[in-house]
Amino acid sequence: MRIATFAFGLICSSATSLLFAQDINTQLLACGACHGIDGNSKIVGTPSLAGQPKIFLENQMVMIREGLRDIPPTMKGLLDGFSDATIVAIAKFYASKSIKSQAGTRNQSMYEKGEYISREALCGTCHLPNYVGRDQMPRIASQSEAYLLHTMRQFRSNKATGRDTIMAASLYGMSDDDLKAIAHYLSQLK
Ligand code: HEC
Ligand code: HEC
Repeated sequence: MRIATFAFGLICSSATSLLFAQDINTQLLACGACHGIDGNSKIVGTPSLAGQPKIFLENQMVMIREGLRDIPPTMKGLLDGFSDATIVAIAKFYASKSIKSQAGTRNQSMYEKGEYISREALCGTCHLPNYVGRDQMPRIASQSEAYLLHTMRQFRSNKATGRDTIMAASLYGMSDDDLKAIAHYLSQLK
């Protein structure tokens, strides 16, 4: 029922290109199974796409479509055959949604440690001081804590296939406890 309402709204909101809207609606239903229908994922370890900069989403989808960025087997092939126009439309859709924080209970000492490290490591020079991202730099505020930790571990151990090496440099020399604190802090931000 909720899905039907969603589909109806999407088609109506795009009266100028009815067929095209129907087209990405089918894709969005598939993505929504993991990333949440409004881009807010409820699955532990799966990133929310809501509120991400459009360019970041476009870049990542192209990397995923071309098989350059590593993703779980369950997502493999899902972007096969997507046209650039479809990718742009999907990116626009998720960029326009607002992210809903799914933070758990705050651990004050971890939060403060994460805040301190993020400031010292100048993460905000690229991700912006409030970590909402811009252009090709993702929003990291309010992202899922488990996903942040997973993806930073990958960057740090140079296993983030197909991703910007600038991030491996930013996390160089950090301990696992440092990454846990950063993930906790960022997930708590609105
Ligand atoms: C079976 C679950 C699943 C489905 C279905 C799925 N994804 Fe994903 N997606 C994931 C997971 C898990 C990741 C994180 C991959 C990683 O480990 O870096 C991801 C990552 C992404 C990212 C990168 C996000 C970021 O913050 O780095 C984008 C963009 C994305 N998916 C788009 C899509 C689109 C568009 C669809 C629908 C066509 C889709 N996904 C369908 C599970 C899924
Ligand atoms: C020089 C610019 C720069 C700095 C400094 C930087 N980042 Fe990044 N970060 C990026 C870019 C660009 C990406 C996207 C990389 C990609 O996906 O290919 C990224 C991606 C990420 C991601 C993945 C998000 C997602 O949705 O997949 C996380 C988490 C992250 N950065 C955290 C941090 C933290 C924490 C710091 C500070 C320790 C930091 N970054 C410093 C540029 C930067």
